[in-house]
Formats: sequence, structure tokens, C-alpha cells
Amino acid sequence: MKQTPIRIKVDLTNNPYEVVIGKNLLKQIGNELLALGFKQSTKILIVSNPVVAKEYANQLIQNLHLAGFTAKLLVLEAGESQKNIKSIGYIHDSSYEQKLERNSLMIALGGGVVGDMTGFAAATWLRGIPFVQIPTTLLAMVDASVGGKTGVNHPKGKNLIGAFHQPKLVLIDPVTLKTLPDREFRAGIAEVIKYGVIGDKKLFELLENAKDIKNLNSIDKELIIEILYRSVKSKAKIVEQDERESGLRAILNYGHTFGHVIETLEGYGVWIHGEAVSIGMIVAGELAIKKNLWTIEDNQRQKELLLKAGLPIHWPKLNITKVLETLTTDKKVKDGNIKFILPKSIGKVIIDDIDNEEIKKFIYNLNQASNC
Ligand code: NAD
Ligand code: GLY
Repeated sequence: MKQTPIRIKVDLTNNPYEVVIGKNLLKQIGNELLALGFKQSTKILIVSNPVVAKEYANQLIQNLHLAGFTAKLLVLEAGESQKNIKSIGYIHDSSYEQKLERNSLMIALGGGVVGDMTGFAAATWLRGIPFVQIPTTLLAMVDASVGGKTGVNHPKGKNLIGAFHQPKLVLIDPVTLKTLPDREFRAGIAEVIKYGVIGDKKLFELLENAKDIKNLNSIDKELIIEILYRSVKSKAKIVEQDERESGLRAILNYGHTFGHVIETLEGYGVWIHGEAVSIGMIVAGELAIKKNLWTIEDNQRQKELLLKAGLPIHWPKLNITKVLETLTTDKKVKDGNIKFILPKSIGKVIIDDIDNEEIKKFIYNLNQASNC
């Protein structure tokens, strides 16, 4: 059993920081900020959404008060459909009202949506102020809160507006998962399976061998800590080598290229992010089979694990022209070629450019096979 809190360093040359994992850390935030050198006079803006704020904002504010800080809370509507430039305006309005300065602090308390928006608002207020991530969904704990990608959606594509802005601290309190709906928990498991396929075979096998991985109540408590630790460690290692995604970091987008297409074309929020990534991994697996990159057996293992987690695996029939249009406006396009992350084996992926015509044919076949 790992001793908590676990501290994982994201060792970036210019902006190193720690991801701290441990029970009841929400009640430790004040001390963590003092240890980082924040003064008690620091103006703090907490951004959250109604569900998360109701459950956890008081604990957080009380602990900050106890440590001598004062903080204001801004509650924004929940959901992917709110992850837009208008919401950033609300955070900036609040920053203006509270006269946030360069050394003030924003705290994101919530899932990936709150984290991405708060990070982007912090990146753009006064050309960049510090922020702290307190992720409350499994998905945000294992992925979105770490690595400094911040931003919002454009009606034509996911995360098209954004900035790299690293947090000063990521504080993961697994106790907050208790109130997370099962569907959201499973969506987080999709990103965990992603880490297994892209580089952590042992993690993949731990999930394969686990009794149940569908929800927090049925999963082994030690496994949850192991999942958090291994996922954050994987992400930190990749981000340290390629902070701005000029190469290696793209492997974190495994399953996301087709996942983003589904989210964009079906309407933000119809499929939640992790579900779209699950289908995206299935599609990437099929594409890898077509290209003789990996075995039918490994493809089947991936499919079975996603099914075991209760995740969707079926491609929804989509308009081919729109799929291609969305694929080519995605951030993974370079010199007109679409970059795909394709699996070679469990624990290894490659980055591959694929010709537009080949993709068109592939999507046509996907649509034909779709039973939705
Ligand atoms: P989310 O932020 O929409 O949260 C999901 C739902 O869970 C929301 O309704 C929220 O209110 C609720 N919720 C959150 N915490 C809760 C808790 N503890 N108890 C009860 N309810 C709770 O979704 P998400 O899956 O966390 O994040 C998805 C977003 O993250 C997407 O926009 C995606 O693009 C982004 N993302 C970003 C990165 C990155 O590197 N920046 C990586 C992966 C995903
Ligand atoms: N979730 C992809 C990345 O952080 O790069």
C-alpha cells in the first residue's frame, strides 16, 4: 500500500510543480499554499460549478481562512457546452471586480471543464497569473489537471482556443470522488486505459485483473491510489520531455482524434469526453489492424477492457464530409496531413500520418459497420 500523501514532481525547466495525491487534502490547501510562498494577503478567486461548489467549496474556503487567506468564489454553469469564450468573460469580469493582480491566484475546483477554463482565464488575465488545480473528477485527476493545457471549445472544434499555462500545484483528494456519478467515473477510467495502451502495460494488466472497475464502490481502494499514481506519473514523464507538444506529447491524444470528432459533431455534452475517447481508441485500434500495426489479440484485449469498464465502443454514424472537415481543423493537422496515434502493442503507440483518401475510405467503412 502506497503511503499518502504521494508527491509527484512535474519537473519542467521553467515551471516545475508538484502533484500531491492524498485523502482529505482539501483540508490542507492553506498549508500547501503557504509552503509554496503565497502570502496570506494574496487575493484568491476560486472557480467552480454548482454541483462541486455545493459539495466542496465551503471546506476549501474554511481551510483557506484557517491559514489566514481570504477567497472569493465564482460559480459557473456545469458542462462541456459551457466550456466557451463567454464563460472566460465571466471569470475575467470577476477578476476585474476583485482587482486580481499579477501575484493573485485562481483556484480551479471541479472537473476538466472548470480546470481548462480557469487555467485559460489565469493564462490570459494580466498576461498570466498563477493558478492551482483541485480536480474533482477521475478524468481531471489523471489527465486534465496535469500538464498545463488550458482552453475552451470553438463551435467548430474542441479546444481550438487555448494556451499552455502550468499550474503552481495540483492537489488530488480522492475523497471527492465519492459524489462523482458512475458515468463520470467510467469516463475517467477511459483515460486510465489510454495510459495503459500508450505506455504502461502493467497498469493495463492491473485493470484487466481487477475484480471490477465500473464504479468507485466496486473498485479496490488500493487500486484507485495506484491508478492515480501511475497515470499522473506517466503524464508527468511525457510532459517533462515535451511540454509544448512538438512530438512525443501527442501520444496523450490517443483516442482523442476520433473522440473530438464525435464530441464536436454530436454536440458538446451528448457523449462525455471519456466516452468519446473510448470510442476513439476502438477506432484507432481498428485503423491499426488495417495497417497491420498490431495484432487482433491486442485489439480484442483493448475492446474487452473498455467493455469491462462499461464504456461505449460503437462508432455513431456520422456524415463523412463533416468528419473530414472536423479532422482537418483539429490541432493534430500538420502540412495538411492528419496525425493519428496508433497502437503497436499494449504499452506502445506510434504517431502516423495518414492520407486523406485512405481515411475517407476507412470512415465510409466505419459508417457502414455502424449499428447506431
Ligand atoms: P466535467 O468537468 O464536465 O465534469 C463532469 C461532471 O461531473 C460535471 O457535471 C461536474 O459538475 C461533475 N462533477 C465534477 N466533480 C464532481 C464530484 N466530485 N462530485 C459530483 N459531481 C462532480 O468533465 P471532466 O470529464 O472532468 O473533464 C472533461 C473536460 O476535460 C473536457 O472538456 C476535456 O476536453 C478536458 N480535458 C482536458 C485535458 C487537458 O490536458 N487540459 C485532458 C483531458 C480532458
Ligand atoms: N490530454 C492531452 C495532453 O495533455 O496533452
